[in-house]
Amino acid sequence: MLTVDDLARDERFERIRIEELVFDARRANDRRNSFAPNSLESPDASRQLMHGIFVGEIQALEGAGRTCYDFDTGTGPDEVPFEMKLDMARQCWDEARHVEISCQLTQHMGTRIGEYAEQTMLFEAACNADPVLRLTGVNRALEGLAIDVFNAMRDYGDAVTDPVLYFCEDWMLADEVTHVKMGSDWLRRLTAKDPERQKNALEFQRAVDKLFSFGGFRGESEENPVHLARTFRKMAGFSEDEITDLVDVAAEAQAEAEARMAAASPAE
Ligand SMILES: [Fe+2]
Ligand SMILES: [Fe+2]
Repeated sequence: MLTVDDLARDERFERIRIEELVFDARRANDRRNSFAPNSLESPDASRQLMHGIFVGEIQALEGAGRTCYDFDTGTGPDEVPFEMKLDMARQCWDEARHVEISCQLTQHMGTRIGEYAEQTMLFEAACNADPVLRLTGVNRALEGLAIDVFNAMRDYGDAVTDPVLYFCEDWMLADEVTHVKMGSDWLRRLTAKDPERQKNALEFQRAVDKLFSFGGFRGESEENPVHLARTFRKMAGFSEDEITDLVDVAAEAQAEAEARMAAASPAE
């Protein structure tokens, strides 16, 4: 197991804790969606999101890589099948390419590594000691979030008539659907004879998905910058019920973050 402090980053990267981002009291009185294409702040908001995608791709690469490395090959409860490691290795190849593409897109959009901070919650969710929970954390929750975010960024590229951005996001979105589909398939395969383990894995995914909704970043209303990409999630093996549940999870996350921000901000 590798801790976040041991992740390979050079001096250009700035680290931040996720709590500082989600519970920032300045957000309490400002629920505008600055990422909406007609918002005056959207150029900055989109640069910030692209930087977030870039560091997210690095952590997705690290998460999939650790799933290959941290477990022995086999069919026992602490092991993963060789075929699953092959899928994770293929995913690493994709994510490495996404890192390159996203880094070049940050420059294309006018920012650079380190202008925004990196939080490492994505990687932390990829550190579960149970391979099935690891798989749900990485390939269903993290990669599912990637689907939602890339779909939003692709739409943004279309809205602002940026064919480079649109094209890159469209291609990466196709890869992410494959990564979630691998997670959905392996989760069902590994827990086919163990409903209790499947239940635990899905509960863990729910907890991670709540964290990954970032207290209102992802949701279903206009004020949420990123919406659930229903069609692509269905293609990736999410059932209708799972998508409906995810909507509830995102709403819960937003309500809790708002209550916490309201409690933290001084009374007017
Ligand atoms: Fe990716
Ligand atoms: Fe991915």
